[in-house]
Amino acid sequence: MKIDAARIAADLDLIAGITETPGGGSSRPTFTPQWAFARDYVIGQAKTAGCDAIIDPAGNVHIRQNAFGWTDPAWLSGSHIDSVPHGGKFDGVTGIVVPLEILRAAHEAKRTIPLELIIFAEEEGTTFNLGMLGSRAWAGTLTMSDLAKLKNRDGVSPLDAGRAYGVLADQIATHKLDPTQYKGLIEVHVEQGPAMWEQNIPISIVTAINGRRQFACTIRGVANHAGSTPMNYRQDALVGFGEIAVALEALPKTLSPSTVCTIGQVFNKPNAINVIADESTFTIDFRSSTNDILDRGAAEIEQTIKSIAAKRKLTADIKQTEALPAVALDEGVINALRRAAKHVGLDNVSETSSGALHDAAILAPLLPTAMVFVASKDGISHNPGEYSRIEDIAKAAELLAAVVQRGDVA
Ligand code: GLV
Ligand code: MN
Ligand code: MN
Repeated sequence: MKIDAARIAADLDLIAGITETPGGGSSRPTFTPQWAFARDYVIGQAKTAGCDAIIDPAGNVHIRQNAFGWTDPAWLSGSHIDSVPHGGKFDGVTGIVVPLEILRAAHEAKRTIPLELIIFAEEEGTTFNLGMLGSRAWAGTLTMSDLAKLKNRDGVSPLDAGRAYGVLADQIATHKLDPTQYKGLIEVHVEQGPAMWEQNIPISIVTAINGRRQFACTIRGVANHAGSTPMNYRQDALVGFGEIAVALEALPKTLSPSTVCTIGQVFNKPNAINVIADESTFTIDFRSSTNDILDRGAAEIEQTIKSIAAKRKLTADIKQTEALPAVALDEGVINALRRAAKHVGLDNVSETSSGALHDAAILAPLLPTAMVFVASKDGISHNPGEYSRIEDIAKAAELLAAVVQRGDVA
C-alpha cells in the first residue's frame, strides 16, 4: 500500500478553495453550501476508491470500503471539514484527507482494511456557538432538545439547518455510537501550537487533551452622555469589561504554564461615539490540563468579574456554557501507535498533549482513543497562514495505515 503525498496535497488545496471568503482563508460554517461541497468532494473521492458512505442522523459522514461490513470492528479515523471564519487549510481537513488517502491506497493495492473514515459535523463551535456537535450527538451527550436551543448567524438551529444535509432530528437518540463496531479511534490533526515545529519534531503521539470551560457574560451599567457626565459619575460597562479582560489575561500564569484564557467575542451597546456604554457582552474560553485547575480557575474567573463589577457599580451576569474535562487518552492505542511508529521509520516518536479540543475528546470515554499530531509552522492556526509540511502529513498517514494493517488491537 503506497501513500501518495501529492494526492494529499491536492485534496488540501482543493478543499481550501471551497470557502465563503475567497482570498481570505477558509470559511466553511457547518450546513452551508461550501461545507457540503467539501464534504461531497471527500465522499466522491472515497466512492471512486470502492467505498460506501452513510450520513448518520446527527450529520456525521461514515465511509468504509464496500467490501468491508458496516458492523465489523474497524478503526475509526476522521476529523472535521467545518472551519472557523477565515481559518487555515489544515485544521480538521488534515484528519480527513489522511484516512481518505489510506482508503485510496488500499483500493489501488486491492486490499480490504478495517478502517472507517468519519467526517464529524460542526467541530469548531463557531457556527452555533457550541463545538463538537456531531460527535456529542453521536456519543449521546447532546440531546435533540439541547441542539434545538442552538442558533447560527441566521437564527436557525442545527436541526433545521442540517435537514437539507441529512440531519434527522427525531432519529438522533436512536442512532448512537455502538462501541462494538470499533477497535478504537485515532484522530490525526495539526498541532496548532509552536512546540513541535520549534523542536523540529514532525509527528507526535498525543496522550492527553486539555479540558475547557466556556462562559457567556454580560456587564451592565448606565448609558449616559459622553460630554456632560463627570468621570466619577459613570457606570461604564465597556471600561468595566476592559478591566476584567486585563485581569483574566493575568490569571493563567498564576495557575500553570499550560493554562490559557481567551476573550474571543465582545459586543458593546449602544456602541456609539458619544454614549457611555450600558452593556458589554463577551465570551470566555478557559482551558487547562487538570480538572482541579479548571475548577479553581472557573471559581476565580467568577470572583474576578463580580468584584470588578461591584467596585464599578455594574451588574454582572455570568453563565457557564460548556464544561469539558481534561482527558487522558488510551494507553492501548498509544502503545499500538508506538509499535507501529517503528515500522514507518519513526524511532523514538515523541509524545505530547493537546491544548486544542477535538472530537477525539468527546469519544474517548466511549472508545479506546488517541491522536497523532503533525507539526504546525510557528504554531499558527485559526488563521489563513496555517501551514504544515505535506511530507509530515504523509508520514502520519503511513503511521495510521500501519496501525490499521497490523491488527494488534489495543
Ligand atoms: C477547536 O478548534 C478548539 O477550539 O479547541
Ligand atoms: Mn480542529
Ligand atoms: Mn479549529
